[in-house]
Amino acid sequence: MCGIVGYVGPKVDGRALEVVMEGLARLEYRGYDSAGVALIAGDHVLTTKRAGKLANLIGALAQEPPPESSTGIGHTRWATHGGPTDENAHPHAGGEDGKLALIHNGIIENFHGLRSGLIGEGVQFLSETDTEVVAQLLARSYDKVGDLTEAMRQVVADLTGAFTLLAVHADQPGVVVGARRNSPLVVGLGDGETFLGSDVAAFIGYTREALELGQDQIVTITTQGASIINFDGTPAEGKRYHVDWDAAAAEKGGFPNFMAKEIHDQPHAVADTLLGRTDGSGRLVLDELRMDEAELRAVDKIVIIACGTAAYAGMVAKYAIEHWTRIPCEVELAHEFRYRDPVVNERTLVVAISQSGETMDTLMAVKHARKLGARVIAICNTHGSTIPRESDAVLYTHAGPEIAVASTKAFLAQITACYILGLYLAQLRGGTYADEAQAVMKDLYEMPAKIQTVLDDLDRVREIARFMADTRSVLFLGRHVGYPVALEGALKLKELAYIHAEGFAAGELKHGPIALIEAGQPVFVIVPSPSSEHGLHGKVVSNIQEIRARGARTIVIAEEGDEDVVPFADVVIRVPATPPLLAPLVTTVPLQVFACELAAAKGLDVDQPRNLAKSVTVE
Ligand code: M6R
Repeated sequence: MCGIVGYVGPKVDGRALEVVMEGLARLEYRGYDSAGVALIAGDHVLTTKRAGKLANLIGALAQEPPPESSTGIGHTRWATHGGPTDENAHPHAGGEDGKLALIHNGIIENFHGLRSGLIGEGVQFLSETDTEVVAQLLARSYDKVGDLTEAMRQVVADLTGAFTLLAVHADQPGVVVGARRNSPLVVGLGDGETFLGSDVAAFIGYTREALELGQDQIVTITTQGASIINFDGTPAEGKRYHVDWDAAAAEKGGFPNFMAKEIHDQPHAVADTLLGRTDGSGRLVLDELRMDEAELRAVDKIVIIACGTAAYAGMVAKYAIEHWTRIPCEVELAHEFRYRDPVVNERTLVVAISQSGETMDTLMAVKHARKLGARVIAICNTHGSTIPRESDAVLYTHAGPEIAVASTKAFLAQITACYILGLYLAQLRGGTYADEAQAVMKDLYEMPAKIQTVLDDLDRVREIARFMADTRSVLFLGRHVGYPVALEGALKLKELAYIHAEGFAAGELKHGPIALIEAGQPVFVIVPSPSSEHGLHGKVVSNIQEIRARGARTIVIAEEGDEDVVPFADVVIRVPATPPLLAPLVTTVPLQVFACELAAAKGLDVDQPRNLAKSVTVE
């Protein structure tokens, strides 16, 4: 969702525009439909903003180049209140003297009332946004108190909702003030220059030293660094950290798009997530969790909450965690969990999965769970983000920055982290899998090489994707851990190629979905390993026969050496043999590549699909 950049640097350099524009380019992946910048120029603020992609803003700036400036803010907007127009784009001016500009991520829930009040006082609004209301309030407050930090403090007291706000005022050059509540904002600490960003990507080209802010805090940046206060005015400290990836990691590295690069990063993402989880004797050690072992032993129910792809990772985890620990495990979409009365208590372990750590639905569900007494472990890919901070403990995935809107390497890393957590719980609690945890870890250590094998042999998948560019509907079938993989395959195709796609539990086929099968209907089938228990493999082979008999075109993902599928498959895509529970780490990969290739073949923007944002920071 909206991307936010703020910058204060030395006067002599005057490079605010360059830094802010680079930050906006690095935040493009978050998804947006308009963009703008505001720079302090003498005794006023100069604002340029345009609907559409950054290229439109760059064009406008080229036509009327602003003077050099050392202080600026920039914004990429994902429309909520009001369509994606030049007027609704941020920054918004406050007051009539052209001295104050404000940008915003989030939603101000009480903006209607505030707006009516201001209209009653004669204020004329130029946009339909909630943001402009805040800009006007801030300008009024500034006129009274003469200090941007204090003015911001007074204004946020009247706001409800979730927000990150950044403001500049021409009377305070060399200052940017930010505020955050339930919405992301991090500080970058450079040498004589200071940055603000929705995430560290905004300033990773300049510094890897960052400061994590807490909730309900206001930060004021100058060339000297950052000072922080709480909304009640008391001083606060940020948590300093070093970003363990660099600008190169956030670039395409020779691939045509970020998604392709991230798909190929997956062996590393999984290997890095597994790194350092066992001691010399092979026992799992999760010091990072910092949770009382007795408390974990007492857990009698696990609830996984997440959205989108992360929720599918949770569905895979359920099969493994229940099998290894014998603790009942539920998986629920975070936004559904949040607005009902779930049965959780102090013996419930809630696992919140989020790549970004900023998904508002998941964040709200985390707060809900903690309020009900549950302990919450976050599985997250982004240091310094909000969800780990609001949880009792965190297990980081080490997938590196995920830039493409479609989640790929984060998915495999999330599944891996869930396996680690499940095995750790099994080890802690004793029982059958306590002893086997080490053996499963060994299997897991072999997975990066197996993922690489899949990546090395994808020409056939690419070929079918290009051949199917005009397809209007694709179905995906799977059973057991293959079911969430089917859902994920369908989600990838929907979001990237805008094709109708649905994933089904193969066992559900005859309960309705088989009616969709007609001649030529493409169906991907994720076949479980022939070594699966309870005759699962044979059941899915029967499902393939059933749809083939009704004219479906079957594209089958099956283990090397599984010859049973061959007579009923139009295409067979091979993956290496794995223990059945670990199979999603390989079977997902061809589906990711299929969606990516097909979208590219249709000429679509693979990294920034329409209407989507990388992290959904509003409910
Ligand atoms: O950052 P999160 O993992 O919390 O994001 C959750 C979903 O919004 C995300 O996985 C989304 O479904 C992706 N676009 C899927 O590719």
